[in-house]
Amino acid sequence: MLTRRRFLAATAISTCAVITRSGGHAAAATSFELPLPIPRLIDAKADRNVSLVAARGTHAYRLGQPVLSFGYSAPVLGPVVRVARGQSVEFTVENRTDAPTTVHWHGLVIPSEVDGGPHNVLAPGTTWKASLPIEQSETTAWFHPHPHGDTARQVYSGLAGMLLVEDGTGERLGLPRSYGIDDLPLILQDRYFGRDGAPVYAPGPMDIMGGYRGDTIIVNGVSAPFARVPASLVRLRLLNGANARIFDLAFSDRRSFHVVASDGGYLAAPVAVQHLLIAPGERYEVLIDFSNGAEVILATGPDDNFPMMGMMRGNRSSADGGSVMKFTVDRDMPGAVKSMPQQLVDLPPVDRSGAARRRQFVLNDMMMGGMMGGGFGFGRSGSGPAMAINGRPFDMERIDVEAKRGTNELWEIVSQSMAHPFHIHGTQFRILSLNGRSPPPHLQGWKDTVLVTREAQILVPFTQMAGRDKPFMYHCHILEHEDVGMMGQFACT
Ligand code: C2O
Ligand code: CU
Ligand code: CU
Repeated sequence: MLTRRRFLAATAISTCAVITRSGGHAAAATSFELPLPIPRLIDAKADRNVSLVAARGTHAYRLGQPVLSFGYSAPVLGPVVRVARGQSVEFTVENRTDAPTTVHWHGLVIPSEVDGGPHNVLAPGTTWKASLPIEQSETTAWFHPHPHGDTARQVYSGLAGMLLVEDGTGERLGLPRSYGIDDLPLILQDRYFGRDGAPVYAPGPMDIMGGYRGDTIIVNGVSAPFARVPASLVRLRLLNGANARIFDLAFSDRRSFHVVASDGGYLAAPVAVQHLLIAPGERYEVLIDFSNGAEVILATGPDDNFPMMGMMRGNRSSADGGSVMKFTVDRDMPGAVKSMPQQLVDLPPVDRSGAARRRQFVLNDMMMGGMMGGGFGFGRSGSGPAMAINGRPFDMERIDVEAKRGTNELWEIVSQSMAHPFHIHGTQFRILSLNGRSPPPHLQGWKDTVLVTREAQILVPFTQMAGRDKPFMYHCHILEHEDVGMMGQFACT
């Protein structure tokens, strides 16, 4: 079980490790040779049409090793797409891969008809047109494949991109917003590379139980990059796009930094932290002060989130922490923002008495039948682990929950033997409690994914239409868990 104490201990260890690394013999281990790739920005505010082509490409994740990759209108990953509140954006998505896929807009509060969940299948060679009505506040969202049973492999192959919703708030607050200069998208993932430099995806039963981690961390598709930043405040838009790894981010000089936004938008005020946990599917926007001009390394602690209190970690090096990337300050770069606002936005108070009903979701990561049956022989394919919610593995044909539009519900999520990042489509919710206590300040804003170590209570508003033929999903965002059945679906009428 991931406890707070354990997280703190993990951070202390990782921070020491980094300090040693920059001064000691391990300095050569991470050389930060590749510049941080900045995805192309598509500004849909002007032209409301965006075309994305899912296709294969060639990409070097590591220096000098170009290999087969997949991306959306890019060799790997995809563009960052900027959309504005109040507009409808016409997306045209073409599938030029050889597998059926879907494109889900994670974090957008839009009708299920265009949500891109597992029911929106896009066969190879076909095109999907979706008109997305953008009505939510400013935030960082993302898009990725969501075909049932194949999401993990497709995301791992490189398919993922970022979406920025803008409504003028960041500009009014004076937050850094020069894309690629003092406003950087950071898509955090991990890969296991073969000798040729190509990512290997071959999860065994234990990898499915614990989630598939690689032993190499990548940022925007490359291993150990460096970024030049101005000597000012810089905004990092952090997205955990990994299949399973929980990042525990901290800087090598232990500087504090400020969290200004979570999944669904800005917090009430910046929250100072020295380290930050970010689970698969989550986003945070943080402000880092580089005005002292010092070079610094961003690192992550070990990730011991495995079933049976971490016992199933074994000696996997893929769960170790390490360097993520390096920042070098360039005093010639124009950094406009020197100070940070004290207040950000007004968040409505969370009122649990406003819940129309209460439901409980138990995330079953150790299906006892399978374990006691002497193996894992009850998965969909007849082999491999299966997972479930409230004892029922995902079924495309079954509606698990019927919610009423215009109401709020109190959902209680319970994890069994490890922590699970629980995500809900078509909404942004608020956390009422985590393990019986009120959430820390940086978890008090809008969220669509919550890391449930033991239990979480959340207040979920239902505003978007979802017919029974095309329901919304709720699931664990450890993609291996999602693919083997830790997912359910809800209609909303
Ligand atoms: Cu990011 Cu249902 O997914
Ligand atoms: Cu989603
Ligand atoms: Cu899970």
